[in-house]
Amino acid sequence: MKINFQLNNSQVSLDVPESMNLLALLRDSLQLMGTKEGCGIGECGACSVLLDGKLVNSCLVLAPQVDGREVVTIEGIAEPGGRPNDLQQAFIDQGAVQCGFCIPGMVLAGEALLRKNLHPSRKEIRQAIAGNLCRCTGYQQIVDAIQVTALRRREKLQHG
Ligand code: FES
Ligand code: FES
Repeated sequence: MKINFQLNNSQVSLDVPESMNLLALLRDSLQLMGTKEGCGIGECGACSVLLDGKLVNSCLVLAPQVDGREVVTIEGIAEPGGRPNDLQQAFIDQGAVQCGFCIPGMVLAGEALLRKNLHPSRKEIRQAIAGNLCRCTGYQQIVDAIQVTALRRREKLQHG
């Protein structure tokens, strides 16, 4: 089946098998390896991407379902030249990255939250990442990174 969709600010047009999931499309067909495969059944969040701005598990989305829509992967939120954006940098600075396997999904969960709420409580941050499992960190530093980024983005908005 032929699909057209927006991927990280580029328009993509390609043929996909109807049974292919979005995770396989991203990793196997488009070589975007930042999106990770964990459980494959919607339980770990490692494969999270933004679909029309909403966090989804790409292992549970069929490739044909993204036709005409917008997909953002972890590669799509970096600064020009591939530099980390402010949230990614905060993850690094707060020591939130251990093995890193869950981190692309965690960062996108944080982005999805911050795009709609720049005043999240720690509870709201925890709810936002509730579908993303981390085997390593205990979550504290991940919540810190999202919270400090919310603060910095608010300050940036105030001071222009
Ligand atoms: S690989 Fe998709 S939720 Fe685990
Ligand atoms: S940093 Fe290792 S799974 Fe989260």
